Amino acid sequence: MKKITIAIDGHSSCGKSTMAKDLAREVGYVYVDTGAMYRSVTLYALRHNLFNADGSVKTAELEQQMPQIQISFKFNAETGRPDTYLNGECVEKEIRSLEVSNHVSPIAAVGFVRTAMVAQQQQMGKDKGVVMDGRDIGTTVFPDAELKIFVTASAEVRAQRRFDELKAKGMPADFDDILKNVQERDYIDSHREVSPLRKADDAIELDNSYMTIPEQKQWLMDRFKEKIE
Ligand code: DC
Repeated sequence: MKKITIAIDGHSSCGKSTMAKDLAREVGYVYVDTGAMYRSVTLYALRHNLFNADGSVKTAELEQQMPQIQISFKFNAETGRPDTYLNGECVEKEIRSLEVSNHVSPIAAVGFVRTAMVAQQQQMGKDKGVVMDGRDIGTTVFPDAELKIFVTASAEVRAQRRFDELKAKGMPADFDDILKNVQERDYIDSHREVSPLRKADDAIELDNSYMTIPEQKQWLMDRFKEKIE
């Protein structure tokens, strides 16, 4: 069966990684979480004191150290999804911390960081049979991807999903704070100079505000089948 490249882009917390992971597992494709790569560079920068006191990046030092930052993924049979490795260390948990989340936007806006990540992502997807999720996959990383999806949901719905997730984990959550954070991240992602979040002209848009996870999964599977038939 022919293998294709699937690019899934969209805002933060819109559920695109759940959709992407499920599809990859179902059809036996490799799943690449490109956000995890920017998060890994951020973790490296935090550990090596590469942020100024005002939260900006020490770009000259980071640029010098970029060749020493190796990111890879290894499939975890227990969780059924890939874990992220930074220089050989599994950092899957660390990169999801609030500290990393709060520092990742300025890292993802640095041009040479994006150039390095994009080159690595293109290498990972060169044989096709890949589902890659991020912000610029359909526009920059794989502009020729056979299937491009752009996922959206209203800021209120995304904030509610994060609120419910935190509550379910027994963690403190304030809906208004979460909504503000969602709106701020949307703004930063869409307005940065390098590779801003933007729907590719040939991407299919999915607003999943009022869809269940099984409905989203089915919708994506239908789009996949249309492309490979
Ligand atoms: O999807 P996520 O929340 O794990 O992404 C973390 C950050 O990385 C987020 O601020 C957007 C950025 N990002 C990006 O700029 N380009 C990508 N392809 C993926 C993520």
